[in-house]
Amino acid sequence: MSISEEMYLHYHGLIVPKETHSYESLEFAQGFKFEDDDVLAVTYPKSGTIWMQEILPLVLNGGDLTPIHTIPNWERVPWLEEKQLARVVDKLASPRALVSHFPYNLMPPSFCTSKAKVIYVMRNPKDIMVSSYYFHQMAGFLEDPGTFDEFMDKFLEGKVMFGKWTDHVKSWRNSELGDRIMYITYEEMVQDLPASLRHISDFLGCNLTEEVIQKIAEHCSFKSMQNNNMSNFSLIPKVYMDSDKSPFLRKGEFPYLLSKVYF
Ligand code: A3P
Repeated sequence: MSISEEMYLHYHGLIVPKETHSYESLEFAQGFKFEDDDVLAVTYPKSGTIWMQEILPLVLNGGDLTPIHTIPNWERVPWLEEKQLARVVDKLASPRALVSHFPYNLMPPSFCTSKAKVIYVMRNPKDIMVSSYYFHQMAGFLEDPGTFDEFMDKFLEGKVMFGKWTDHVKSWRNSELGDRIMYITYEEMVQDLPASLRHISDFLGCNLTEEVIQKIAEHCSFKSMQNNNMSNFSLIPKVYMDSDKSPFLRKGEFPYLLSKVYF
């Protein structure tokens, strides 16, 4: 099946959308200088990236709601590989939080030599595929997904942005980052968000009180994020993301498998 050359760039065997990525942004990511106190959340697309863009600033700053209420998610916790990073990098508060869809082999050299911590969020691929199918229908900068069966073929062949899910997960499972990496599943987060936040806070050495954990859980719930205009992509013109076709925060569930089956 052919891939739209108009909409995607090819980069080290992967395809990425041109609307959000350019060869300059991908090179900028390669030259990016990681600091030891940077925190990176890595996901295969549709695994809970924007959820981490809500969670990380709150965990890192003791539950101060200012960033999630005043800064759009893509500027607050930018993608390492997207065009946006160069525009906002100098405004990021320290400790900086970033997200990325890169597989491990595309991480820049400074990441490997730094002590920056990584949280890898994994989600059941069936749910990713469904979420991605609807996302391709609403996002004007992505190829039309066709029928669900057609999209499933592409997904299974890895002819979708950021390649095959299995390759992505394997690359990070084998990353040899030792205690610099924490693995968590989207399903664990849905089942028990406060427990997941305690786990994240401990990993990052944030020492949050139970009161703050509960406050963060409340503000990072699916409902709260649906109502947060800084996180629900309602600021994006409909020609790029049309929530009438399918909202970005669509269901927030995991109907297929119980959590922890893949660890
Ligand atoms: P669904 O389409 O299944 O609803 P990403 O940010 O990586 O693109 O992932 C998007 C998926 O994460 C969407 O899944 C979205 O609803 C879900 N999501 C985002 N915030 C969430 C939250 N607070 N609780 C549960 N799911 C959330």
